[in-house]
Amino acid sequence: MKNKMQMVLACVLIMFVVVACGQTSSPSVPSSPAAVTAVIVPEVEAEVQADPGASGVGDSYYPGFGNGGYDVTHYTLDIAVTDVSSGKLTAITTIEATATQDLLSFNLDFIGFKIVSITVNDVTADYSRKGQELVITPLKPLLNGQSFTTVVRYTGSPEVMQSVALPVQTGWIIAENRSFVLSEPDGSAGFYPVNDHPLDKATYTFHVTVPEPFEVAANGVLTETLDNGDTTTFTFELRDPMASYLATINIDKFEVEEMESEGGIPIRNYYSSDLPEEARKPFARQGEMLDYFSEIYGQYPFEVYGSMVMNTEFESALENQTLSIYGIDMIDYDDMEGTELTVAHELAHQWFGDSVSVADWSDIWLNEGFATYSEGLWTEHLDGREALDDWVKFQYAEVATYPEYYTSPGKPPTDELFNGGVYVWGGLTLHALRLEIGDEAFFETLKTYFALYKNGNATTDNFIAVAEHVSGKELNEFFDLWLYSEKIPPIPEMGLGVE
Ligand code: TRP
Ligand code: ZN
Repeated sequence: MKNKMQMVLACVLIMFVVVACGQTSSPSVPSSPAAVTAVIVPEVEAEVQADPGASGVGDSYYPGFGNGGYDVTHYTLDIAVTDVSSGKLTAITTIEATATQDLLSFNLDFIGFKIVSITVNDVTADYSRKGQELVITPLKPLLNGQSFTTVVRYTGSPEVMQSVALPVQTGWIIAENRSFVLSEPDGSAGFYPVNDHPLDKATYTFHVTVPEPFEVAANGVLTETLDNGDTTTFTFELRDPMASYLATINIDKFEVEEMESEGGIPIRNYYSSDLPEEARKPFARQGEMLDYFSEIYGQYPFEVYGSMVMNTEFESALENQTLSIYGIDMIDYDDMEGTELTVAHELAHQWFGDSVSVADWSDIWLNEGFATYSEGLWTEHLDGREALDDWVKFQYAEVATYPEYYTSPGKPPTDELFNGGVYVWGGLTLHALRLEIGDEAFFETLKTYFALYKNGNATTDNFIAVAEHVSGKELNEFFDLWLYSEKIPPIPEMGLGVE
């Protein structure tokens, strides 16, 4: 917005000078052609010097993820699904962005589909595709600071996507006669053209049209349901910035459950209409969780929360912004309290992962370690400090007994980003920090870190700096030990250690 204003002002200024020059018959103002040229030349030069935008944003683990040279502010995903069981769709993605350099061309991440057309500022643009890189060359280069709108029209069915970071299918997943979307970290490019890295957060509007009697659950607030006869269009607005991998569109027949936390946070849960009633049980305390985490971390950062539970066999959950999603295999009927901890985990990610996002995927423990320790904190909230200590001892024993499943949290393998180490060892790192600096400084650190980096991105160094500032202690050695050691360090206060 600011840049657009500046552009307009600059144009007005140039026009004023040109007109003024043209108008003058007064001998006191030079009206030589040189004076006019001097005004026009810089723009011409900028066009000549424009470079292509980078094909990656510079992630140390995944150099190809995201792109350089622009900043997206808003995505509008207009998707008409004509057949849920094949995922056949016709879509228009509109991307509002600002150039951060002069751009001869720029890249988006996008896989599969048949592209029908691409325009930049309403003018047809050239494009080429190579792997997940979609290279768009506008008719005229874009200038640094310029806002521009890209519209990509496409049709087809999403390809089956295998993440490079973990051995699971991601993106738009079809489960017979329903579908769901979970994309961390690289599945989003499988259903919309995107600057696919958490560094470039943006707001979203979803218009999703599905055949009757299907319904849609997406991120944010449902603002309109339009009955078109044979189809229904659902509009969702997500008004807080979101990392691209958290965008989710789920299609099924749902029962929607609405409530509010005592603290006033609206909750809406989507359950497959054929989901067994007991499966809802572990979600009953989400309101209390929202209020509790708001108290210890800082106010819940979004407009609404809720969970989507789909009655289909997938054994994962993902913390999509404002709408965590679960497959039925995540519900353990023999351990509903354990399942409730998973619910606390995904909910805590709204603060750590979603609102405060990683700046580099190598720092994933900042998401998973924090969400895992939140399970411990929820346990402590319910049953007291002793229950937390038992939880810590159990987690520690897991790492000590099966070291092959837990790498140090600061440096997980690139092809196994969500290694157990970033969760359990990462969570224990926070407990060790708590013992190192004391409860008061520890909780103050979490609050300050959240307050400083909410709606943005943070690094491990940012977190360490906050902990050092709040506690007044030098903590580099502590974090080096906990994040990068070969073996999990001891917790002498609790008599924990490995040989
Ligand atoms: N972030 C998820 C969690 O809460 C784990 C996860 C990462 C995941 N990538 C995924 C789950 C892809 C399903 C699909 O622990
Ligand atoms: Zn997690």
